[in-house]
Amino acid sequence: GWRTPNLYLFQRFWCQPKEIQAIISAQTHFEAHDSDVIIATIPKSGTTWLKALVFAIVNRRRFDVNSIDHPLLRSNPHDLVPFLEYKVYADNQVPNLSNLDSPRLFASHVPYTSNCKVVCICRNPFDTFVSIWHFMTNIRPNNLGPFSLEEAFDMYCMGQVGYGPYWDHMLGYWKESLNSPQKVMFLKYEDLKEDVNLQVTRLAEFLGCLFSAQEKRDHVVEDITKLCSFQNMKNLEVNKDGKSILNFDNKGLFRKGEVGDWVNLLSEEMVERLSQIMDEKLAGTGLEFPNIL
Ligand code: PPS
Repeated sequence: GWRTPNLYLFQRFWCQPKEIQAIISAQTHFEAHDSDVIIATIPKSGTTWLKALVFAIVNRRRFDVNSIDHPLLRSNPHDLVPFLEYKVYADNQVPNLSNLDSPRLFASHVPYTSNCKVVCICRNPFDTFVSIWHFMTNIRPNNLGPFSLEEAFDMYCMGQVGYGPYWDHMLGYWKESLNSPQKVMFLKYEDLKEDVNLQVTRLAEFLGCLFSAQEKRDHVVEDITKLCSFQNMKNLEVNKDGKSILNFDNKGLFRKGEVGDWVNLLSEEMVERLSQIMDEKLAGTGLEFPNIL
């Protein structure tokens, strides 16, 4: 039979019971430095891509983007920019983080407020749902069994998805980015797909490491986006095997990487239902997802 996602409401967001201990440990022990950068996402909204881009941007003077030894060619982005709750504080460890190079880069799926800079990426809910459903049914270890599309969608519409409700997670960061644009940058997967060079330039500005005129003449921005492109990342040996998040195969992090794949999975009824929910939730917020086909 179908297996129902095993989610519990914890601190107003949904997560798996086995994740709670590490979340509490991260909340208890992690102290952000002002120079830290936290990548904040709901799962399947572009985390891996944003981790790669931010790592390449802030470290470009330490690691030449065109070097054949670039860390992104040898390590999965999730090893270079670890999740606080899945890696840094997993297994209830309290690691010493004081020796890490500055700026320290971390990530979190947990709705998070902090004194450091936060870059949040979100993705239209149709593609995010489709990506997570594929992940739940095809990527997670087989013993978990398949998830019913209808049931998973129903739960999603009720807010029941990892680190959801989706709209609460997203709107929290959206509002913070409007209130403190120098602290919180809000990106959309769709905007990255449309013009990733532009967004890389904006990211560097936000992170306080603008591209110089010389770097622009040398096409450093374009070299970064090429290094982090879906095709390039997907084909790297390091991303074809290995497990960088819990016990998930890295290759499952690179499925299709497109905007609009939801037309292949969602029925008209489903699209109608989720559209109505999003219209309600986003009304008056200024946040929109145009051109998602
Ligand atoms: S996770 O597990 O939360 O970290 O997953 P996340 O990286 O947020 O989301 C996975 C989706 O992002 C796509 N992806 C990319 N798109 C464009 N460029 C790059 N470099 C890239 N890397 C990953 C990935 O294919 C998943 O989307 P879908 O729609 O399932 O293909």
